[in-house]
Amino acid sequence: MIKVLFFAILLAQKAFSQDTWDWVRIDCGSDTSYKDSNGDTWDSDDDYIKTGDNKQVASTSSSDIEQLNTLRVFSEQNKNCYTVPTPTSARYFVRAMFWYGNYDGLSKPPTFDLEFDGNKWATVVTNTTSFTYYEMIYATKGDSISICLARTRDQEFPFISRLESLPLPDDMYPQMRRDMAWFIRYPDDKYNRIWEPQIPPGLDSVTANFTSLDETSVNVPPDSAIIKAVEASATDRINLSFGFDNVSHLDHVEMYFTEPFLETSETRSFNVTVNGSFVNTTTPEYQICTSVWANLQSIGTLDIELVPTEDSTLAPIISAIEVYTVSQPLVIATTSQNDCKTHFTLKFFNSNT
Ligand SMILES: *[C@@H]1O[C@H](CO)[C@@H](O)[C@H](O)[C@H]1NC(C)=O
Ligand SMILES: *[C@@H]1O[C@H](CO)[C@@H](O)[C@H](O)[C@H]1NC(C)=O
Ligand SMILES: *[C@@H]1O[C@H](CO)[C@@H](O)[C@H](O)[C@H]1NC(C)=O
Ligand SMILES: *[C@@H]1O[C@H](CO)[C@@H](O)[C@H](O)[C@H]1NC(C)=O
Ligand SMILES: *[C@@H]1O[C@H](CO)[C@@H](O)[C@H](O)[C@H]1NC(C)=O
Ligand SMILES: *[C@@H]1O[C@H](CO)[C@@H](O)[C@H](O)[C@H]1NC(C)=O
Ligand SMILES: *[C@@H]1O[C@H](CO)[C@@H](O)[C@H](O)[C@H]1NC(C)=O
Repeated sequence: MIKVLFFAILLAQKAFSQDTWDWVRIDCGSDTSYKDSNGDTWDSDDDYIKTGDNKQVASTSSSDIEQLNTLRVFSEQNKNCYTVPTPTSARYFVRAMFWYGNYDGLSKPPTFDLEFDGNKWATVVTNTTSFTYYEMIYATKGDSISICLARTRDQEFPFISRLESLPLPDDMYPQMRRDMAWFIRYPDDKYNRIWEPQIPPGLDSVTANFTSLDETSVNVPPDSAIIKAVEASATDRINLSFGFDNVSHLDHVEMYFTEPFLETSETRSFNVTVNGSFVNTTTPEYQICTSVWANLQSIGTLDIELVPTEDSTLAPIISAIEVYTVSQPLVIATTSQNDCKTHFTLKFFNSNT
């Protein structure tokens, strides 16, 4: 699983490097800037932050990602901030990665806070077995984003291994409020989202008999994520559950469907409900990706059900899902009414890889 994830990230980077967008890529802790094997330039920290010390991570690191071999640690001040330029007026995708790698030989992976523009983004809990990362979409109001690492525990010093940002097209996720943060996993995504393959228990894996889509959704999920789907057995329903804190939050759900086979004598149709509320009736179409979305206020578990309609002869099917959770309004000087952020997201669909 971990291997697959590394592979996925590397592939995603590769696909993305063909585009000409204005990335900021920082290999934290690196003494020099350099070009990686894809020809992408990774900067050292110098242009973005003044505090901190560069450290080398032992070569026994569990990671294949080159940028995780160094880190920058902050042992002096409580809060240390990177200034990441955002020259384009756009929503930015930001990712921060952390790999402790026992750089200090103490086998004490720290816990600390990650913040952006004065807002809490995440509590980073590092460990000795794998790296961790956080991703966010954020509509910045100024010409830079401040990404800060804050000490929250005595003698546990924040560090960071890799930090990157890129602008996203305006028309993606039109129903989402504009300031968001998310985690998602999968290879070959044009927008570098990482989509995580998963087969929920009780569901069957299905691969479509086509290799690319004729039409897709405005959010451009990667074709490979849509072509593989999960299906209920017989005409059962599909139940999906996402656990969140018992705190009231706004959720945004995007679900993606396609009909994997051209079967003219059969009908596949199902109702989508989110936490018991009807959202839409869906009939997936061959070689076309359709999506159904919902915004809702919820507390705790988010339950999604796909229930076959009376005339359906085939079971419900789903290719991919994104769940975003928006937290409290942002704290920004130049604030607007609908500022908010997501602090937790999931994405899943089925894949055999
Ligand atoms: C280490 O952190 C990763 C990423 O947050 C997590 O998936 C994994 O379960 C953690 N491992 C342990 C042993 O806590
Ligand atoms: C899905 O949940 C409904 C109630 O919420 C339950 O009646 C049904 O048995 C569940 N189906 C499966 C396949 O888990
Ligand atoms: C949320 O509340 C329910 C019921 O009160 C409880 O069973 C569950 O463990 C709580 N979940 C969390 C994450 O606190
Ligand atoms: C997919 O299935 C349809 C209908 O059975 C068939 O016409 C088409 O040739 C198949 N395509 C491939 C690539 O197998
Ligand atoms: C419901 O389905 C219709 C037809 O596919 C689509 O136009 C509409 O946007 C969908 N609504 C939601 C909330 O997903
Ligand atoms: C959604 O349903 C779950 C399970 O029934 C419940 O715990 C949660 O509070 C609901 N969320 C709402 C009503 O927003
Ligand atoms: C599906 O939704 C439609 C429209 O709300 C409703 O009339 C129908 O009873 C629903 N079917 C099932 C099986 O839930």
